[in-house]
Amino acid sequence: MIYAGILAGGKGTRMGKQELPKQFLELGDKPIIIHTLEKFLLVPEFNKIVVGVHPDWVTYTEDLIKKYLYSYTDRIELTPGGTDRNSTIKNIIKYINEKFPGSENGLLVTHDSVRPFVSLKMIKENILLADKYDAADTVVEATDTIVQSINHETISEIPDRQYLYQGQTPQTFKMNAFLELYDSLDENQKQILTDACKIFVVNNKKVALVKGEYSNIKITTVTDLKIARSMIGDM
Ligand code: CTP
Repeated sequence: MIYAGILAGGKGTRMGKQELPKQFLELGDKPIIIHTLEKFLLVPEFNKIVVGVHPDWVTYTEDLIKKYLYSYTDRIELTPGGTDRNSTIKNIIKYINEKFPGSENGLLVTHDSVRPFVSLKMIKENILLADKYDAADTVVEATDTIVQSINHETISEIPDRQYLYQGQTPQTFKMNAFLELYDSLDENQKQILTDACKIFVVNNKKVALVKGEYSNIKITTVTDLKIARSMIGDM
């Protein structure tokens, strides 16, 4: 059993004042989230693609899917997201477990709805490696030197760049493994461990690296949106 979990529960505050959360903004001829869903629809291995949507935007998303992806409505399900990224993942898993009994041990390929340039290769590698290890995380080699400052005033460390990567998504793991680790965290740890794969790493689980692409950008700011539009030739 393999499910896709598309994370669309955020409001996109770093995008500044917009009429819609960023996942619904237009990129070329359709909203960002539709581009992302189209990539996942190309993977026949998924039993279902479950989108965790901000509770205020569930009906809106339903309408978008009916408009742009009318032939695929039976492959996509919606559920309300949570207050942070990991609780959106938890809601997606709870939804899948309730609706599709027997799926608990299945894999979940999680992906940011605002990374429309994900490739099929990345998705397939995630599935392969998460099956072999405890989880899989998509990364690219760090190109900039990463500087650490504990006091936000002076440098405490400059780690050796050859060992550093930047995290992207997809991130993939077994649903019951995520739930077990996540539910064992206290509220404070939940605030700190905002990255799903970090929860596996701090519990000494083996998280495999999947080669991402620099083009697999997360659309976070207005500049990112401009870059994404120029990448598809839509200025
Ligand atoms: N996300 C989610 N549930 C949340 C918060 C975020 O599913 N409660 C999703 C976002 O919709 C996005 C992805 O996680 O697709 C990456 O998060 P980020 O870029 O931080 O999105 P936002 O939280 O929407 O942005 P911001 O931090 O600027 O408000």
